[in-house]
Amino acid sequence: MNAINMKKIRWCVIGAGGIADRRGIPALLSDSDNEILAVMDARLETAKAVAEKYNIPAYFDDVEQMLRSTAFDAAYIATPVFCHYEQATLTLKYGLNVFMEKPLAMTEAESKAIVDAFEKAGKQLTVGYMMGYHNLHEKARQLISDGQLGDINLVRMQFSCWYPDIPGAWRQDPARSGGGCIMDLAVHCMELFSSITGDCIADCQAYFATKTFSYPVEDSAVIMFRSEKGTIGHIDVNFNIPDNCAASRLEIYGTDGSIYAVGTLGQEEAGTMQFIYAPQRSYDAQQVRAVTEPQTFAGAGGNIYQKQFAAFNALLNSKPCYDNPRTAQYIQKLCDQIYGR
Ligand SMILES: NC(=O)c1ccc[n+]([C@@H]2O[C@H](COP(=O)([O-])OP(=O)(O)OC[C@H]3O[C@@H](n4cnc5c(N)ncnc54)[C@H](O)[C@@H]3O)[C@@H](O)[C@H]2O)c1
Repeated sequence: MNAINMKKIRWCVIGAGGIADRRGIPALLSDSDNEILAVMDARLETAKAVAEKYNIPAYFDDVEQMLRSTAFDAAYIATPVFCHYEQATLTLKYGLNVFMEKPLAMTEAESKAIVDAFEKAGKQLTVGYMMGYHNLHEKARQLISDGQLGDINLVRMQFSCWYPDIPGAWRQDPARSGGGCIMDLAVHCMELFSSITGDCIADCQAYFATKTFSYPVEDSAVIMFRSEKGTIGHIDVNFNIPDNCAASRLEIYGTDGSIYAVGTLGQEEAGTMQFIYAPQRSYDAQQVRAVTEPQTFAGAGGNIYQKQFAAFNALLNSKPCYDNPRTAQYIQKLCDQIYGR
């Protein structure tokens, strides 16, 4: 058990780029239970700018120098994927709990080594799969666990963005990202499937290609899967669909009802979700399809990053739990299978 109790949680940040600056650091600082004592980035000017922006007292360009500088309770790691294994291992050496941005690591082997080490040390490790905290995904989870959809037979997810060639971008280099839109976007969908349905992808196959851009990671993928409970589904992820041409979609069809959510996969608690309850016990030979009015729910506009850090803090104040990082590890196993590594 982590005996942090009523004191503020003393954080350091490793990697102060896009997501840390845009979402992670503001979410941490919005909770008075947290204080950020230092920030580190491989680019000192980035660490300095972020320290000044958020009034963080110290900044570094060397992780170990930062870890030695004062006592911390937790590290928020928001670096490119190839850094995760080494930085998680190092922060654990200094006795820290870690909140790691997704995906957990480059491979299943690295992921397993990280989770095993944290579990052995009794330190909390959480991977930033924040979409399960979206109010509409919580609603979907509730409807499913209440049996409102019956048996789930089909799940479809679509999540894409426009991500053209950018010289030097780590996501476009397989040695630093581990892959393209599958490692970056599909991992969220795989986690969300488990988070909403309580089921787990048992096995999957994928078509993927680099069709539009010239980088060596995939910019298009369709993953077909079968779950442990027998649901068949697919996940479409693309780096080559313009942002304004594709809303994210989540569709879940059961024997009694369905869910159709648009604009809920992403960084905002946005979008809408329609729920139809229409059990049908007999075959309709006339095939006259009556329209069942859906119930419509809206995104609450809250902050899913604040909620994920609040859940992490709650674990620090109670007992470590490794369900989330074990799921993250399993997702890396599915990625390894898809990429054939
Ligand atoms: N959950 C989400 O919504 C979400 C969204 C975007 C990114 N992410 C994840 O967050 C992580 C970072 O992505 P990003 O978009 O912020 O990338 P980014 O490139 O914008 O920022 C990464 C930062 O890490 C720094 N860096 C690089 N190597 C480093 C090292 N060895 N040590 C310390 N700092 C180093 C870079 O200088 C940069 O400032 C990735 O794992 C990514 O998948 C999650």
